[in-house]
Amino acid sequence: MPPSSRTSHRTARLVVLVSGGGTNLQALIDATTASKDSPTAPDHDAEIVAVGADRDDIEGLARAERAGIPTFVVRTSDHDDRADWDVALADAVAAHDPDLVVLAGFMKLAGPAFLGLFGGRTINTHPSLLPSFPGMNAPRDALDHGVKITGATLIVVDAGVDTGPIIAQVAVPVLDDDDVETLHERIKTEERAMLVDWVGRLAHEIVDHRTTTSGEAS
Ligand code: GRF
Repeated sequence: MPPSSRTSHRTARLVVLVSGGGTNLQALIDATTASKDSPTAPDHDAEIVAVGADRDDIEGLARAERAGIPTFVVRTSDHDDRADWDVALADAVAAHDPDLVVLAGFMKLAGPAFLGLFGGRTINTHPSLLPSFPGMNAPRDALDHGVKITGATLIVVDAGVDTGPIIAQVAVPVLDDDDVETLHERIKTEERAMLVDWVGRLAHEIVDHRTTTSGEAS
């Protein structure tokens, strides 16, 4: 898509990928869109142009629909293998011409086709202080290990499991009576704030760079 067909030169285009409840997505929606309670959009340089998922019937997609954001679903079960699914996902995301892709509770690994198009501009939020506790069960693993502090990490996605360069981290205490749910909820409160903050910073850099290179006054 040529830059002239972009929605706005003043915002960074985000595609957000989700697999579940989408509270991180909701935090981004709240930070980037106007609502009836707050008729002017908050001061954020990002615009969510689409939300994608690997499954149907999830609250994450419903949140996007309620906010009037286009959605798409790319299921592994509709494809012969992971390689085909990876190409289909990359194509579906590319159709929305994002500057930045945010994995917000997206429970699949990005494959080579996806990273070929979006490597270096795809970020993922994870509920532990990486490199501790990568993978699907980070709050459970933190509790099992008996750590007293855990947290959340924002990374640039690479081909590994939660191995990419670290952008930001936030620490969260583990309390004696925590179970997986209470700990994960405490982490997610901080995780959402970190995600909104850093997506804002990255979007600002993208818009700044675009303005500078196009010679446009900001
Ligand atoms: C977050 O803690 C994310 O880091 C992890 O799954 C959770 C998703 O939460 N991968 P939500 O769907 O944004 O509520």
